[in-house]
Amino acid sequence: MIKLGVNIDHIATIRQARRTFEPDPVIAAPLAVLGGADIITVHLREDRRHIQDRDVRLLREVVFTKLNLEMSIAREIMDIAIKTRPEQVTLVPEKRQEVTTEGGLDVVSQKKVLVDIVKRFTDAGILVSLFIDPEENQISASKDVGAQYIELHTGNYANAKDDISKSKQIEKLEAGVKIAQKLRLRVNAGHGLTYQNVGIIVESLDVEELHIGHSIVSRAVFVGIQKAVSEMKELIFKPELKR
Ligand code: PXP
Repeated sequence: MIKLGVNIDHIATIRQARRTFEPDPVIAAPLAVLGGADIITVHLREDRRHIQDRDVRLLREVVFTKLNLEMSIAREIMDIAIKTRPEQVTLVPEKRQEVTTEGGLDVVSQKKVLVDIVKRFTDAGILVSLFIDPEENQISASKDVGAQYIELHTGNYANAKDDISKSKQIEKLEAGVKIAQKLRLRVNAGHGLTYQNVGIIVESLDVEELHIGHSIVSRAVFVGIQKAVSEMKELIFKPELKR
């Protein structure tokens, strides 16, 4: 059964709009878990635009399911991650100017440095997932550097304008999953997924975890985080897909 990772960064985005204490992502996390979240994800960005160090510290105290820390490979952030001991880190590329993560990590060109980074986390008992585009060379490089998981970037599927381009992107993702599974990599997927477009992903991709943020937090503004998560969980809970 596909697990749901809920990215609660944008609860903190609303808080940081006023640099105040509310809404608190640390309160959102257990409510998301009550709604059915299997994983709580936050991205501690170098510019601290939403999630703050204190959030990560406190989330470690309150999340008993799986805490997934999305992060760049900046040394300062890696040190915080090692100290916090989330169950999993997802390594992503990070640019200050971007609105959200654009494109996957270039594992191929950073193989040397990633081998050491993955080893550092693995030695600390932390699972490593690499957020990559569904390209064969990036997938096999992820295996070579020792990552346990990859997270396939679904952004191109989410942004596809018509059915033909959507199908093409789904085919690419399906092929990526197959390549990864042959290499015995565990496969997650995420980015840009919504209540409207998640169905095809669930039907087509044999993945372990889906990571969804913006759409769930947007709905939560109107219906509350627990309900927003449970509605998404209903869309991905398909017991007939025996995997
Ligand atoms: N997965 C990764 C690696 C991401 O960087 C993000 C965005 O923080 C997500 C999933 C969630 O994307 P979205 O907010 O578009 O659902």
